[in-house]
Amino acid sequence: MNGGSTPMAVSMSRTPPMIKIPRVFWPWQQKVKLGPMTLSPMGFGTWAWGNQLLWGYQESMDSELQQIFNLAVDNGINLFDTADSYGTGKLNGQSEKLLGRFISEFEGEARNNIVIATKFAAYPWRLTPNQFVNACKSSLGRLQIEQIGIAQLHWSTANYAPLQERALWDGLVAMYDKGLVQAVGVSNYGPKQLLKIHDYLKERGVPLSSAQVQFSLLSMGEDQMEIKSICDSLGIRVIAYSPLGLGMLTGKYTPANLPRGPRSFLFRQIIPGLEPLLVTLKEIARKRGKTIPQVAINWCICKGTIPIPGVKSVKQAEENLGAVGWKLRPSELDELENAARDSPAKMIQNVFQTS
Ligand SMILES: NC(=O)c1ccc[n+]([C@@H]2O[C@H](COP(=O)([O-])OP(=O)(O)OC[C@H]3O[C@@H](n4cnc5c(N)ncnc54)[C@H](OP(=O)(O)O)[C@@H]3O)[C@@H](O)[C@H]2O)c1
Repeated sequence: MNGGSTPMAVSMSRTPPMIKIPRVFWPWQQKVKLGPMTLSPMGFGTWAWGNQLLWGYQESMDSELQQIFNLAVDNGINLFDTADSYGTGKLNGQSEKLLGRFISEFEGEARNNIVIATKFAAYPWRLTPNQFVNACKSSLGRLQIEQIGIAQLHWSTANYAPLQERALWDGLVAMYDKGLVQAVGVSNYGPKQLLKIHDYLKERGVPLSSAQVQFSLLSMGEDQMEIKSICDSLGIRVIAYSPLGLGMLTGKYTPANLPRGPRSFLFRQIIPGLEPLLVTLKEIARKRGKTIPQVAINWCICKGTIPIPGVKSVKQAEENLGAVGWKLRPSELDELENAARDSPAKMIQNVFQTS
């Protein structure tokens, strides 16, 4: 395949041969390392896959979700983020189950490169390392795989049950030592807790490979930037969750056009104050021949994070795949960040985020 740098021989025949033009840029050209793994510069998030309450999931969506999965893997995306708590009510675990089915039914060698990042909930009854090992084995069963790529603690209990925190950390150590996971990470850990767990794991010979945090043009406060600089200095990858601000950074929602369900309460408060940012996103998208979500996701990549946008339709997946393979210019990053600062509204922090 011609990668674009070497000129192709020009055919002299009257009917030119069909050249298959890839629909999107091949993301492997920008691969990133995370622990022992090689990842695409963007992953896909699957919180919505099984969540009826917030995301309006229905089982009738499954065949489209499978198409999304196949499309992503065919286009070089190999990171999928999930959690053992994803899926509402009796659908608990549905996101991992769907991923398990989609991986097992995927045909093609790219299947061997798929990396699953799952998150383990800090349920109050998970108090021993063995309980985390059992939780990990249950996730492996739902995912139908032998090893999890990144095992992440979904949140820290430091704010409300500090004594449980040690059990979470020892849980990660136990999963890693048993070879059930390739790398370990955290989620919703603030700068202080991040340094603490990093040092704790290091003493036990377990590298902390990733920190997942809410990170977007709507969520680029001091904490995010401090976490990013700590991670850079310690060789930890930042995984940016909600890179589209739950959908607010797509440009499709307005005060008169809100999503159904609980998101509408949040969006109603935030969207009216987002005008400077949305106008700038739109203008840069127009000039670069991109779309608003592509620019918003690309900003996360340019800031050195791995964004994991959530996707619910093939159309969204196709669009978001176009967020990789190019880069915003430094002047465009400045413009976006200034507009974000000028926008009075910001995303609310996850209640589980610690200091
Ligand atoms: N660690 C944590 O505590 C935590 C917390 C939150 C999320 N996450 C992870 O991060 C992932 C992404 O975050 P998120 O799902 O919260 O929010 P997000 O990525 O900011 O927004 C995703 C939503 O935006 C809409 N969307 C996506 N692409 C679009 C496009 N091209 N055009 C128009 N609309 C589009 C879709 O919803 P609609 O079509 O319904 O608008 C989609 O579900 C999650 O799936 C999950 O894996 C982790």
